Amino acid sequence: MRSSRRKFIKSLSVASALLATEGVAKPFNIIRDLKKINPNDKIRLATIGIGIQGHFDTQAALRNPDIELVAVADLYDGRLEQAKNAFKNPNLFTTRDFREILARKDVDAVIIATPDHWHDQATIAALNAGKSVYCEKPMVHQISEGKAVIDAWKKSGKTMQVGSQRISSASFKEAKRMIEAGEIGPINFIESSNDRFSAIGAWNYSIPLDASPKTVDWDKFLSDAPKRPFDAKRFFRWRNYRDYGTGVAGDLFVHLITGVHYVTGSLGPNRIFSSGNLAYWKDGRDVPDVMSCIMDYPETDKQSAFQMVLRVNFANAGKINDATRIIGNEGEIRFTGQGLTLTKNKLAKAPGYGGYDSLFTFPEDTQQEYIKKYDAEWPPETRQKEPVKEIKFESPKDEDEHRMHFADFFDNVRKGSQGTIEDPVFGFRAAAPVLACNESYFENKVVHWDPVTMTQKAEGQAKGAPAKKASAAQNKE
Ligand SMILES: NC(=O)c1ccc[n+]([C@@H]2O[C@H](COP(=O)([O-])OP(=O)(O)OC[C@H]3O[C@@H](n4cnc5c(N)ncnc54)[C@H](O)[C@@H]3O)[C@@H](O)[C@H]2O)c1
Repeated sequence: MRSSRRKFIKSLSVASALLATEGVAKPFNIIRDLKKINPNDKIRLATIGIGIQGHFDTQAALRNPDIELVAVADLYDGRLEQAKNAFKNPNLFTTRDFREILARKDVDAVIIATPDHWHDQATIAALNAGKSVYCEKPMVHQISEGKAVIDAWKKSGKTMQVGSQRISSASFKEAKRMIEAGEIGPINFIESSNDRFSAIGAWNYSIPLDASPKTVDWDKFLSDAPKRPFDAKRFFRWRNYRDYGTGVAGDLFVHLITGVHYVTGSLGPNRIFSSGNLAYWKDGRDVPDVMSCIMDYPETDKQSAFQMVLRVNFANAGKINDATRIIGNEGEIRFTGQGLTLTKNKLAKAPGYGGYDSLFTFPEDTQQEYIKKYDAEWPPETRQKEPVKEIKFESPKDEDEHRMHFADFFDNVRKGSQGTIEDPVFGFRAAAPVLACNESYFENKVVHWDPVTMTQKAEGQAKGAPAKKASAAQNKE
């Protein structure tokens, strides 16, 4: 609130590749004295916010065995009516007030798929009511809201999953395995983009013709956002406004950074800078449609320092050629729509000479002398560059990552465990840096972040901040 992503691996079958990654450690794994749900029992589910993603989430959840949808809450009456139809249950309990759902004893878990500004409030209320929570990304609307959500989760002992479902796919597991096996050497740079060029892609979703203060609970929608008269555009196209949404950073960078944190095991960047522009969709929105950010990841005992560059351009009228590449000193992992490609490329030890080199500019004897010395220093075996190898991984054709993300959530609910793949600590470590992109953009500043303590730092406090330049006088020699 406002005060605040087989055919084969050349030598590995898919089956063995998947088995090899089954043991991937979860980021957090506390087993508590939770009231376990008998593994044979149904998990009774309710959805809070049955808009676009509320439908997709609920359908993905229901593709798992023994899940029953018992209730939905929404602030637009048309969606409450359509939910009964979509989920083929004329008796489905529907309400404008999600607290009525939280009060029900027959609800074990809730999906929270409201606009971003409601995530923290609804999550905390649900955890306090003893419900397990699947909350959509970004976990929070403001950095300041993260701690309260984490505290409520810890206190509740309940299971929580944040909804960047792509990390539950086989390609992300495979990328993680490759990085851990050192296939690309120390990571030095990551880049990812997500461009679009359409009105729907730029969040201008259809508005129902009956939208009015009668059919929409406008005051509840606003919550603690600034009061204003009913505005159907703000309600149905909330992503375009900072009061309710988190711009391209919270909406799309968050998926990219979540994937990166999952595959690298990194806790987050310590320096964040973003820049952009409202270039095309000048329709009253107050968020940019072109944004790039640079995030610096510090060196840790497990990882070398690397830089990440993320970009969204909703006005890309050219060829859209999105790529996510993780580049290391010995290769690259490039995500493709259907999986990934690992390219291994290791330099020879010997530096080489000739070609676009300075050698030919030296006097003839100096050149001969140089070559003699080089031959003595660099025996033939140090000059051999390993051939570039390309290894492709294709995700299983019928893979359903969204269902699997829910499967992980439900498995943990049944076990009474808090060890989901995207728990709120992980979720906040992904959300905070992207929310910092907005802060950097709107306040024209570099944001310093401590990824370990998950706190923002003042510039002076920032470790690793570049040393101040010497004054002009000092620079004179
Ligand atoms: N994981 C993904 O790939 C993915 C994709 C799209 C959206 N999302 C996330 O899902 C969330 C919803 O996005 P959407 O596109 O479905 O939005 P939407 O506008 O289509 O639906 C949001 C619904 O929430 C309802 N709502 C608002 N406040 C509520 C409240 N207090 N109680 C009950 N209902 C309330 C609204 O009436 C609306 O129907 C967002 O956080 C978004 O970032 C995630």
